[in-house]
Amino acid sequence: MRQLSELPLDGKVLLIRVDFNVPLDSGGVIRSAARIEAVLPTLHRILAEGAGVLLMSHLGRPQPDALPADNAAFSLAPVARRLSQLLALDVPLVAHTEMDTWRCAPGTVALLENVRFLRGETDNDPMLARRLAALGDIFVMEAFATAHRAHASTCGIVDHAPMACAGPLLVAEMAALEHAFSAPAKPVVAVVGGAKISTKLAVLRRLATKVDRLIVGGGIANTFLAAAGHQVGRSLFEAEQVAEAHSLAALLGDKLLLPEDVVVAGAGAVQGTARTCGVSELAPQEAIYDFGIRSATQVADLVATAGTLIWNGPLGRFEDPAFSGATRVLAQAAADCRGFTLAGGGDTLAAIELCGVAGRLSYTSTGGGAFLHFAEGRELPGVAVLDRAALKDGSSLTAME
Ligand code: 3PG
Repeated sequence: MRQLSELPLDGKVLLIRVDFNVPLDSGGVIRSAARIEAVLPTLHRILAEGAGVLLMSHLGRPQPDALPADNAAFSLAPVARRLSQLLALDVPLVAHTEMDTWRCAPGTVALLENVRFLRGETDNDPMLARRLAALGDIFVMEAFATAHRAHASTCGIVDHAPMACAGPLLVAEMAALEHAFSAPAKPVVAVVGGAKISTKLAVLRRLATKVDRLIVGGGIANTFLAAAGHQVGRSLFEAEQVAEAHSLAALLGDKLLLPEDVVVAGAGAVQGTARTCGVSELAPQEAIYDFGIRSATQVADLVATAGTLIWNGPLGRFEDPAFSGATRVLAQAAADCRGFTLAGGGDTLAAIELCGVAGRLSYTSTGGGAFLHFAEGRELPGVAVLDRAALKDGSSLTAME
């Protein structure tokens, strides 16, 4: 891929695709600005080199044909406000009606309104790609977290942009993931948590061939426990995936770590009923919400000795303090681990922030779906298109070799 650092930027307008798809509460308050903050070093560098910046991103999954009032909740206005504060610079939100005539002066930053309001964005429409490409002199792909989507603003645009390159965040994300998956220091320990095994089957299958130990948590662990013959009561699990979990457990053998003790409560996490018990001691009306302390300590011991840790998904229902214990123990162990520690996925990021260890892992990816896509061993269209573009114009000697 051609990289931003190879290009002279002075006086140019940089059109940068970022992923500002941040979690918002109903009042439009940003719950985590991690994805915005991750791009700040890139912006400071570009501004210092005398370029102007037009940022573009999606937020959520609006319908382009919906009434404006119905799409209001997907406006990037709160992001523009937060970015203005973070950069100490006025960052205007550019409406689509004015984008074709918008011209960024050197040293300024503007944010285009949600690209998914535009018809053709998610279909990778060439007309829209061409229109977007005309908004800058250089297109910079900086949205690792959207690189698994072949959309007009992530893929099609590369065919029409006067110049296209990868931004520093995208390059760093790819380097960290390749480091962890292609040449990992051993032992390799992976933690895969979250609600549904069905969404992570491909990742689990791939990891089974790569890791020395695999720890599963959340609803995924419950499905494995059911496959091992345990009664999981009212726990979140996928009955239709029990056979799949059984075959994965056979494939993994001793590599798989399941909890031996768990924190349970009346279904619906009824306050005051939480207790710790062995995995075979659940009452039918109870549900599992976290690992018990004995199992959490086992997790911490494995993580402490890891040469490489790959972490996606919390161990329990960490948003609730009564059930955050094991995820906290894991987060602390990951922060203290002396190996290469990589974490990714929306909930994982939130858990890391909540547990107060942000910045203490070797690399925390901004990717959710893109992280899983990469972990499954699949090509990321938004990266592949840059590779192909660099090969086509022969401008990247590294790629040519
Ligand atoms: C994400 O949060 O994973 C990315 O922003 C992609 O969002 P999408 O799943 O709506 O394409």
